[in-house]
Amino acid sequence: MSDKVAILGAGLVGSAWAIVFARAGRNVSLFDGEAAQCEQALTRVAENMRELVGFGLIDDAEAALARISIAGSLAEALEGADYAQESVFERADVKTEFYKEIDKVAPADLVIGSSSSGIPASVFTEGLTCAPRCLIAHPINPPYVIPLVEVVPTPWTGDAAVQTCWDFMLEVGMEPVRLTREVDGFIANRLQAALLWEAFRLLEAGIATAEDIDKTISEGLGRRWTFIGPFQTIDLNAPGGLEDYAARLGAGFFEFVKQGEPAEPWSDAVIAKAHGEMRDKLPLKDQPARQAWRDKRLMALAKHFQEVGE
Ligand SMILES: NC(=O)c1ccc[n+]([C@@H]2O[C@H](COP(=O)([O-])OP(=O)(O)OC[C@H]3O[C@@H](n4cnc5c(N)ncnc54)[C@H](O)[C@@H]3O)[C@@H](O)[C@H]2O)c1
Repeated sequence: MSDKVAILGAGLVGSAWAIVFARAGRNVSLFDGEAAQCEQALTRVAENMRELVGFGLIDDAEAALARISIAGSLAEALEGADYAQESVFERADVKTEFYKEIDKVAPADLVIGSSSSGIPASVFTEGLTCAPRCLIAHPINPPYVIPLVEVVPTPWTGDAAVQTCWDFMLEVGMEPVRLTREVDGFIANRLQAALLWEAFRLLEAGIATAEDIDKTISEGLGRRWTFIGPFQTIDLNAPGGLEDYAARLGAGFFEFVKQGEPAEPWSDAVIAKAHGEMRDKLPLKDQPARQAWRDKRLMALAKHFQEVGE
């Protein structure tokens, strides 16, 4: 592979990807439809890199920053690149039009991963010359401290492109997971949706406050989930492993899961209730500071994982 990677769409996620790639020694070319976004991205990248330095999560921030440049056009960004990470707006019409533009100028062997949070790549790549080299590479923001990336091929993505994306993600320090085929929401947002649905249901029924439901994750289940998933969790919680857990608790779980059916959209009332509780504790004006606090906690956690390994 060449050393050059293109970032297409330099907003929140595109600029975070730039850190991942530049930190791993790649030359990163930024392109955005709004030129000012690239300048802002560089400012954000420099700030975030300074914080990463503080946590020992980047070796040479200055050198990494110097590897990131702004391209004057889409063609310039893609020239000589063999991987591009698309991170434009999460809108099917925008991505469809943008991929048509990419198709006109993409090098013949370019693999293009989309950061799309839920729109499958088949929606915006059908019929394009580059289609066999397009797939989803969905991160959890910010990818420079959260390693997961969901790799999701379309029905027409070639195995070689999946492999290239997979290998590249490993090379730059990400942890890819592969879906065999497209499904709305992929894995991460489907799991998140299931948990959110139950959280809203409990709140709406007046079983607990939003604060206590949040705490059940942050002070409880989430502590294990930072390093093992739901299957490993139950496998470790019965002497005979997962089967034993299912025999002991499966029927009981099924009873209360059934009670929740069928799923309803979140009601305006429960959204207002949860929002009100959030705002009592956190005025919206403090949100940027709270986001910065969250990102610092994530950096501390990333450092912890770097130190202890698996
Ligand atoms: N924000 C998140 O937490 C998050 C997490 C994972 C994945 N994603 C996905 O990443 C993608 C980008 O999200 P974001 O939060 O960075 O959005 P954003 O609004 O911060 O950035 C999008 C950027 O794309 C540019 N853009 C839009 N249309 C364009 C076009 N036609 N040509 C060139 N540039 C164009 C915009 O100018 C903007 O800078 C979306 O698909 C989103 O679902 C977001």
